[in-house]
Amino acid sequence: MPSPPLAKLRILLGVSGGIAAYKAAELVRRLRDAGAVVRVVLTANAARFVTPLTFQALSGQPVRSGLWDESAEAALGHIELARWAQRILVAPASANTLARLAHGMADDLLATVCLASTAPLAIAPAMNLRMWAHAATQANVETLRSRGVAILGPADGPMAEPESGPGRLLEPERIVAALAALHGPKPLAGRRVLVSAGPTCEDIDPVRFIGNRSSGRMGFAIARAAVEQGATVHLVAGPVHLPTPAGVAREDVRSARAMRDAVMRQIPQCDIFIAAAAVGDYRPTEIAAHKLKKSGKALVLELTENPDIVAQVAALKKRPFVAGFAAETQNVEKHARTKLVRKGLDLIAANRVGNGVGFDADDNELTLIWPGGEEHLPRADKLQLAHALLARIGALRAKSAKRRR
Ligand code: PMT
Repeated sequence: MPSPPLAKLRILLGVSGGIAAYKAAELVRRLRDAGAVVRVVLTANAARFVTPLTFQALSGQPVRSGLWDESAEAALGHIELARWAQRILVAPASANTLARLAHGMADDLLATVCLASTAPLAIAPAMNLRMWAHAATQANVETLRSRGVAILGPADGPMAEPESGPGRLLEPERIVAALAALHGPKPLAGRRVLVSAGPTCEDIDPVRFIGNRSSGRMGFAIARAAVEQGATVHLVAGPVHLPTPAGVAREDVRSARAMRDAVMRQIPQCDIFIAAAAVGDYRPTEIAAHKLKKSGKALVLELTENPDIVAQVAALKKRPFVAGFAAETQNVEKHARTKLVRKGLDLIAANRVGNGVGFDADDNELTLIWPGGEEHLPRADKLQLAHALLARIGALRAKSAKRRR
């Protein structure tokens, strides 16, 4: 029997105030099922939502909440607790807790332990959607991310208020899966991965452009998963509104040709190229110097074909492993197979797009196709899919290395 993903890992779970605190009880159970040893620290507000006794019963360990609890400090003081933890997970993290952690406060037990510990920190935020969207919260999240803190979620969906939007605590099983990925083996250690992500924009005039619906989430998830698996990652991104995943070197571009140039500069240094970008196939032959004016007649735009970046990489004599994507609205696998061969790829990830699927969503569903095989990855969030895609790429590379020996 393989050992569970978090076997014997000592996790300190910090629970902060909010209605989602009840889900932390389920999270303790799932963490223990995954093999972890869990100790819980509650903030004062969390203890108003769920009692320490609940967490004590579920974790099988004493629960701490106050910094000034003399008997507890005598047994396992906050510094020992900080040393004991091999991972710290704060779930749910309220807007207030997130802000306190971003600013290095030490005004309660949880914040003090986080500050005193060198254990990797993961945070699963949960709050009202407007609190999550607030510039102050987003700046705090960015600060934490830039320090290497893993931000898990939040999920998008119905809230207690009742309202719907981003701010829900990620489901406990997803939090455990994300922790397992962070903690898990590093099969890409020493490998250099290049990822393209997002749309390209082809200017028509100084104010208009031809673009597409790609948000960049799939490519950014791949970049993040590759870092989590130990790779050195370079991300070439079209115009998107996404924060850079921790540990990723990012280069922003606008047009297909700029993306091609950025990719080609990186190719000699990379082992794996994953083309998740939705590259515009055409650009206006000429970019008007001034804003085009209405003339009362139809406007005819002449378009010139853009370079096919992934095909150019695959055609190189000395080339990395090349994986492309196929975004299709019908006959998805058939078109993907044609692209796999036509572009000379090692693998293609086929996805259906349109009507709210594939593009600009947290979830996706992929069929991986390679010469001689295929694997269907059912609907899941893009980070999980990214990990599965990288696992398949790793297996294919290992197989071809064996053949060469
Ligand atoms: O960004 P999200 O909102 O998360 O959405 C994710 C996604 C749907 C954009 C992503 O999963 C995806 O499918 N990306 C590829 C989109 C695309 O352009 O597919 P395509 O079938 O048109 O192109 C096939 C492949 O050739 C792709 O790897 C593409 O990057 C590459 N290509 C295409 C044209 C071109 N000129 N150069 C290229 O390199």
